[in-house]
Amino acid sequence: MQMESFVLVIFGITSNLARIKLIPALYDLTKAGMLPEDLTIIGVARSPMADEELHDYINKVLREDNRHHTHPIDQEVADKLTKHVHYLNGSVEDKDFYDKLETYLNELKKKGRNCDNVMYYLATYPELYSTIFQHLNTHGLDRSECGWTRVMVEKPIGTDLESAKELNALMAKYFTEDQIFRLDHYLGKETMQNILAFRFGNGIFEPLMTPEYIDHIQVTAAEDFGVGDRGGYYDTVGALKDVGQNHLLQMLTFAAMEQPHKWTNEAITKRRIEFLNSLKPDTNSTVLGQYQGYGQEKNVNPDSKTDTFFSFKAIIGDGKLAGVPAYFRGGKELAQYVTEISMVFRTPSMRMFKDAPLGMTPNALIYRIQPNEGIVLKILTKRSQHKLELEETYMQYCYKNYASIFPDPYERLIHDAFVGDQTFFVDAPEVEAQWQITDMLVSDEHKIIQYAPGGWGPEESKEVIKKDGREWLEPSLAFCSL
Ligand code: BG6
Repeated sequence: MQMESFVLVIFGITSNLARIKLIPALYDLTKAGMLPEDLTIIGVARSPMADEELHDYINKVLREDNRHHTHPIDQEVADKLTKHVHYLNGSVEDKDFYDKLETYLNELKKKGRNCDNVMYYLATYPELYSTIFQHLNTHGLDRSECGWTRVMVEKPIGTDLESAKELNALMAKYFTEDQIFRLDHYLGKETMQNILAFRFGNGIFEPLMTPEYIDHIQVTAAEDFGVGDRGGYYDTVGALKDVGQNHLLQMLTFAAMEQPHKWTNEAITKRRIEFLNSLKPDTNSTVLGQYQGYGQEKNVNPDSKTDTFFSFKAIIGDGKLAGVPAYFRGGKELAQYVTEISMVFRTPSMRMFKDAPLGMTPNALIYRIQPNEGIVLKILTKRSQHKLELEETYMQYCYKNYASIFPDPYERLIHDAFVGDQTFFVDAPEVEAQWQITDMLVSDEHKIIQYAPGGWGPEESKEVIKKDGREWLEPSLAFCSL
């Protein structure tokens, strides 16, 4: 899609989100030559600051050591980006600020912009959304006569089904669904989008995606680090709502939903929603944990009862994989940094080598989201030696130099939003379906079990899968290593 000129208003330009994700993504888009020449970016924050100070700040954050943005910065590109950036200070709760914003936008129009396309990016606390929308509305800034007005918000949308519905209703009061971009960056990952291309672009794997062949599915998103300096946010949310409600449910959805009839926003979103609506969480399966030492993290309540680990089971309710169980686990301070989906195949009892060592090892199709990104098939082959012995090996498709070649999910998604493509954004019924599932998994009284950092969470998590006669797979780093 062709990108038109527009104004990007970032509420919270000095926020953690803007620092870590948005500014680097805008830099990358500038570098790739994917932004229009007459783009205007208006950064909004409270403290008074000159445009030049904001430009210095942007230059500084671009060079910060950041897990999400590691490549060197070209000063010419940074200058090209900051040339578009202006600063407006003020409190988003203060009506006068919107007078200032309105005047600024009107001046831009007078300077020869023939249309008024505006994207509002809310990198602020969700509690401020309502005030921001109201003020935009009073000033007529939530609509435009000859262009488009869009709003972009981050996950989590709400903190449970009820609050998500309220937030969706609030947004619907001011905007239509095609104006609202709810961002879950997992939907913008190359490795996630390739699951759909792999599944529906080939003819040989999809026929095997039935309960006749697939025994169960495992979805893992483990991090071997803690909350870092995000304790203040994290402590109000917890692992299940931070990543389970959104990223992990989307991982399963991509791997198991029915084939969309076309590669379009409507068709793909429809399938995602159908899948999520049919998923049946096992409400007795949830295990929540907290790593030892979490209470001593920066900005965390020392008596916190927040989960930093979760595991649970759900059954696929509809479609070709109906009846197949999926087991989820995710959290912080775990044994490995690894995110993957494993489609674990049944092991027929008549296997020829069933009594040999490894003879009953299940085959698995693994979508590795990160690290060692790839799609691999775990198989058994003969060890290359005189005697017949089996060994585990992988048929693998690996991304080469993944980090340097592919766009960061934020880069991809904000570009999609700029051109109006909502395919990989979450819409209102989808986010509500995700909360419907998550709400069923926990209650306020849920026990939080302490676990030692460096393992796979509380021992009790093993039971989630063991009671069905299965085991968690140890994610392998033996494939797709450079
Ligand atoms: C974010 C969560 O949405 O996703 C973080 O808030 C988590 O807690 C992160 O670390 C994981 O994203 P990625 O892309 O690093 O796997």
